[in-house]
Amino acid sequence: MPFAEFTDDLRVGHDEIDRQHLGLFEAINCLHDALRAGRSRQEQTDILAFLHTYTVEHFQTEEAVMRDSGYPALEAHQELHRTLVQQVNDLEEKYALGTMTLSIMTMHFLKDWLTNHIQAEDQKFAAFRRAK
Ligand SMILES: [Fe+2]
Ligand SMILES: [Fe+2]
Repeated sequence: MPFAEFTDDLRVGHDEIDRQHLGLFEAINCLHDALRAGRSRQEQTDILAFLHTYTVEHFQTEEAVMRDSGYPALEAHQELHRTLVQQVNDLEEKYALGTMTLSIMTMHFLKDWLTNHIQAEDQKFAAFRRAK
């Protein structure tokens, strides 16, 4: 079983968003595997950078879809996205400075954030789309 499992209840019923969510889970698993296997710092840095870029890209796509559908909670949702991007930035910076190493705790933080955000927040948007 992968570390972060993309289960059916996480699907929001929008192809591109679901595909990107799956991609984010895969990136988290990739980073987790690199950590477990004791891969080089460079390799971990690269995966972390990819996860960061992909997260930003996903948030942009998701927010555009929300904007196009006239989602009333867009601004609050954007704020949640911004907070995570900030946290990932901090993480990357500390990691680059050598003031922290990646840990299982960090991996759980990323996995739990993503899972909870999709379940609680992205699904609210999915419900809004279904109700339209
Ligand atoms: Fe979201
Ligand atoms: Fe999302």
